[in-house]
Amino acid sequence: MEIIISVAMNPAVDKSSSVEHVIPEHKLYCKAPHFEPGGGGVNVSRAIKKLGGESLLFYPSGGLTGKMLENLLLQENINHYPIPIEGVMRENLIVLEESTGQQFRFGMPGPFMSKQEWERCLNELFDFKPKPNYLVISGSLPPGVPSDFYARVAKKGKESGIKVIIDASGEALKLALQVGVYLVKPNIREFKELLGSDVQEESQIEFEATKMIESGWCEVLVISLGAAGALMVSRNTVEYIRPPTVQVVSKVGAGDSMVAGIVLSLFRGNTLRNSILFGIAAGSAAVMTPGTELCRREDTERLYEKLLSSTK
Ligand SMILES: Nc1ncnc2c1ncn2[C@@H]1O[C@H](COP(=O)(O)OP(=O)(O)OP(=O)(O)O)[C@@H](O)[C@H]1O
Ligand SMILES: [Mg+2]
Repeated sequence: MEIIISVAMNPAVDKSSSVEHVIPEHKLYCKAPHFEPGGGGVNVSRAIKKLGGESLLFYPSGGLTGKMLENLLLQENINHYPIPIEGVMRENLIVLEESTGQQFRFGMPGPFMSKQEWERCLNELFDFKPKPNYLVISGSLPPGVPSDFYARVAKKGKESGIKVIIDASGEALKLALQVGVYLVKPNIREFKELLGSDVQEESQIEFEATKMIESGWCEVLVISLGAAGALMVSRNTVEYIRPPTVQVVSKVGAGDSMVAGIVLSLFRGNTLRNSILFGIAAGSAAVMTPGTELCRREDTERLYEKLLSSTK
């Protein structure tokens, strides 16, 4: 059997509400909250589902929030594999200020995980049968998990012949790339941070991206550029792909939808280029939906067809 595994080391329950005005010192009377599963890898699995695919979500879970997260995933029919931990999973808060339309997003750090716990996650991930064809690692690491955790995943993935796709940032991303992965999707800010320099010129970005491929950091580099689409770089291609213009409603979930689109399309056996087009379509579809809603399948497929016919 062929499968995609998505790893979320720092999943969350996202609690959304709204209030007329956000004013300091006052008690704010919010509307009834809405709860959803959240966090990097979690949204990749949810977006794959929305696009008509399946994946297995692998994540640590603890406390009452952990139970709630498991229930929310069950309700969405997401195949999931929780690893029990002592700590209590985080709950993030998203508040819409109705008078201005501004969204306030409060992110929590996540529970502390012991060495024994994160090592168990790593071992169970690679003992899992069937072995995944694609393994997506995405999002932040909770306190206690060392910054070389993704590098360890990359190393084991390489040894087992699994294609690892990473969407992370900072030190954890850098260490994983030093081991080498199949595909990495930084946005332009994360790419510059990785380089440690503020490259501006397109030619210089292309040069540095090509260097990363040649150094064995990844086989494919997809630098996402927001409304400008993405730069795709592999051993024999450097190409800018511009998405069709869409109405921007909420940018939340663009990156996760993009990663979900790329991996699902690769998994379905499409070419690398078409898979990246599908990812860009999914990212753009996500910005068309309100609040935290991820990409819709119909929008994604329509944008994909447009992209296919407008790019050679
Ligand atoms: N304003 C926009 N219009 C059209 N498409 C967009 C827009 N913003 C993002 N996208 C689509 O989503 C993809 C990913 O967006 P972006 O580069 O903002 O990723 P990101 O910064 O990783 O996002 P996130 O904050 O969700 O992690 C883009 O490549 C593009 O296809
Ligand atoms: Mg991102």
